[in-house]
Amino acid sequence: RIAYVNGRLVPIADATVHIEDRGFQFADGVYEVVAVLNGAMLDWPQHAARFGRSLRELSITAPMSEAALSIVARRVLAANRIRDGLLYVQATRGAARRDHPFPAHAVPTLVMTARPFDFRVRTAQQKTGISIVTQPENRWQRRDIKSIALLPNVLAKQSARNARAFEAWFVNPDGTVSEGASTNAWIVRKDGTIVTHPASESILHGVMRGTLLALAREHQIRVEEAPFTVADALDAAEAFITSTSVPCLPVISIDGNPVGSGVPGPVTARLAEALWAEVE
Ligand code: PDD
Repeated sequence: RIAYVNGRLVPIADATVHIEDRGFQFADGVYEVVAVLNGAMLDWPQHAARFGRSLRELSITAPMSEAALSIVARRVLAANRIRDGLLYVQATRGAARRDHPFPAHAVPTLVMTARPFDFRVRTAQQKTGISIVTQPENRWQRRDIKSIALLPNVLAKQSARNARAFEAWFVNPDGTVSEGASTNAWIVRKDGTIVTHPASESILHGVMRGTLLALAREHQIRVEEAPFTVADALDAAEAFITSTSVPCLPVISIDGNPVGSGVPGPVTARLAEALWAEVE
């Protein structure tokens, strides 16, 4: 495998960053995960735009222009002969002697890696559905920034794994679900309306979330961007999750309680089908 590090393509074992990189010491950085299908990056402009926004929100100097970023991304994919896979892009504020305030002269660190990923593994999950566990929301207030500080997400995902569930949903004190550890959360109400949390600072504005909203509207499915509670989800006809790597999977249980009839529902299936039709 070949990685990109600060201007060079190198075998991944030789791809290193400084131990005083602020990404390593403070999680002072941002990232993107981009799907690659049939050799093409899916929704690259949206990912590049979100990456730029995350950097700006944290006052990290953009390591290069969007156009240059896309050229490097293509080089990384080509070097790894990726046809179907996931591209990882990360930038940090750079390396500097450890001190909390921004260093005066740090040069941002940029790394990219890519790995093959067979999206067909999702076909089985599409049929069986996946399970969710819930846990109290314990992240910072700027979840719209795609920060590499992911400890709450890592712990949530592990608790899901320990419970043999696929994903964990973060639940606020008022009972509303913000999103999953690495996915956005949705329900399909009994009246057929699909509901997902508004794109506020409380959630990551998922690229797949945006794609699916557009797709639902195209298919004349009623859409509502509003918070929903776990009780709403258990009372809903269906629930599902979206992300770059998922991309749209039916939720059949939450904390061991069935959602709807406890099997994947028709609206989720229709949306997933429409999504695949669009990308293939
Ligand atoms: N996760 N919410 C969170 C907290 C996420 O980390 C992600 C993405 C999403 C979905 O965003 P998108 O549709 O743009 O992939 C929502 C990536 C895939 C990850 O961390 O691996």
